[in-house]
Amino acid sequence: MMSSRPVLVAPSLLACDFGRLADEVQQVQEAGADWLHVDVMDGHFVPNLTIGAVVVEAIRRVSRIPLDVHLMINHPEQYVKAFVDAGSHYLTVHVEAPGLRTESVLVSTLETIRKHGARAGLSLRPRTSADALKPFLGSLDLILVMSVEPGFGGQAFMPEMILKVRQLREWFAGDLAVDGGINAQTGRQMRDAGANVLVAGTYVFHSTSYHEAIRSLRK
Ligand code: DX5
Ligand code: ZN
Repeated sequence: MMSSRPVLVAPSLLACDFGRLADEVQQVQEAGADWLHVDVMDGHFVPNLTIGAVVVEAIRRVSRIPLDVHLMINHPEQYVKAFVDAGSHYLTVHVEAPGLRTESVLVSTLETIRKHGARAGLSLRPRTSADALKPFLGSLDLILVMSVEPGFGGQAFMPEMILKVRQLREWFAGDLAVDGGINAQTGRQMRDAGANVLVAGTYVFHSTSYHEAIRSLRK
């Protein structure tokens, strides 16, 4: 099943100049971004440490497009309320998170996200198979397929993830996002496989024109 939805571009703020955060948010919005992707890392689930709910709240105050918050943390179930209250429109947790090891805790975490008024997303590492998401498809608004090992921006796209997207699109009619090593060429491959949301950090923020970079992802 091909996605008939228009493509949405979600620049990942991880690659922006954090010293000029409000300015970067405004510029990328003016350049045509649909969502802002925010990467939250705890130094445990992934080796890197990034930002918490206070910064999400600050981004919310200076933005006018949806915040797509990607939790790469061991215990997302303990932080749902904090991140929804901070202004997340989409809140995505990882199926591999140690705190979500049982199906019932994972389902109740997704339900809690929705109950607090956000849309619920589930992400998977490159080595996790698409099958791992099957029990949760009915509780999800969004799937986020990692096309690099989560933790850092600027890594090379893993082409094996194209098949995973194709598989998931057969099962899931909601938003199907891809994250990691996305540029005009890999973005096109992922769209052809059925993805409708392209997350891109380096490709947008290290470009000479945010507008051109975002436009090229839609072509
Ligand atoms: C990686 C993050 C990504 C990252 C993507 O763990 O989830 O959102 O910012 O960066 P690029 O687009 O540079 O691969
Ligand atoms: Zn991300």
